Amino acid sequence: MKATAIAGSNVAFVKYWGCLDPELNLPLNNSLSLTLDQAHSIVTVEFSPHVGEDRIELEGVAVMGAPRERMVRFLDHLRRLARVTDPARVVSRTSFPVATGLASSASLYAALTIAGLAALGLSYDERTVSTIARLGSGSAARSVYGGWVEWVAGGRHEDSYAYPLAPRDWWPLEDIIVIVSEEPKEASSAAGHRAAASSPCFAGRLARAGEHVALARTAILTRDLALLGRIAEEEALLLHAVTMTGEPPLLYWRPATVAVIRQVLAWRREGVPVYYTLDAGPNVHVLTPPEHAARLATGLCAIPGVIHTMVCQPGGPPQLGDVHNF
Ligand code: PMV
Repeated sequence: MKATAIAGSNVAFVKYWGCLDPELNLPLNNSLSLTLDQAHSIVTVEFSPHVGEDRIELEGVAVMGAPRERMVRFLDHLRRLARVTDPARVVSRTSFPVATGLASSASLYAALTIAGLAALGLSYDERTVSTIARLGSGSAARSVYGGWVEWVAGGRHEDSYAYPLAPRDWWPLEDIIVIVSEEPKEASSAAGHRAAASSPCFAGRLARAGEHVALARTAILTRDLALLGRIAEEEALLLHAVTMTGEPPLLYWRPATVAVIRQVLAWRREGVPVYYTLDAGPNVHVLTPPEHAARLATGLCAIPGVIHTMVCQPGGPPQLGDVHNF
């Protein structure tokens, strides 16, 4: 009844922002992402009557309040599937700052899904596993696969799943994660999804999403960085336009966020193939081919306000392991 899994977080090229159904994490548009290797969560879960009540420890801290309730709801779902009532102990370790816009909930819930199903002796096809992970966090639906992934919005629980578009070695693109803040963001993604529809930019973002999905899919399948980069940048700006103009307004950017974006644009003017994107936080993903990654990472580290960088490559699917967190 105890298992451990490792899963990579992902960077979204076409974003999920705003829900059709916030209980089931059903999105309003398809989205596309790349699973990352260095940015991952390792989660151990044990279901046992000896645990007493659900005990959840993320990054060495016992979790309380809304994040705990959210995870207990998810554990309840796993327990219903296995027809057990045992409480669970969950301990997670993540390789990057959590709740800072780097999709820690994607790697956390993807790893918890894989470990939880294994601990309970449950086995499902990949599509079903993706729908289960989605109930924990929408973006986790994509992190149950390695490589390049599309999440089909669907309109019902069973129809809203991700599938692999191409394996990790399809295209050796690198993602330099630029950390400008390690502080947990003030508003969760859940609050952001809720606020999204109140923004006057919301309809504009959604109107572009369908076209962006088709173009990003083509860009991935033809390894066209200029096209993928243009979409990833516009998607980031549309997402942040929505967060900044919603009610309540959420401003994730720090001065160094802007400095990093300006540096990427300056490099591009010099002819360097480099693009940026952001998910819901201040930290920036910088996308570039492998031959440029080390030099650009050094340049990014020199920008005032940049704390450090993590150079990520395309990651594989989640794996079960036998070294447990407890
Ligand atoms: O999975 P959530 O609810 O944390 O939403 C994440 C949404 C973004 O990261 C901003 C975009 C995306 O598609 O991953």
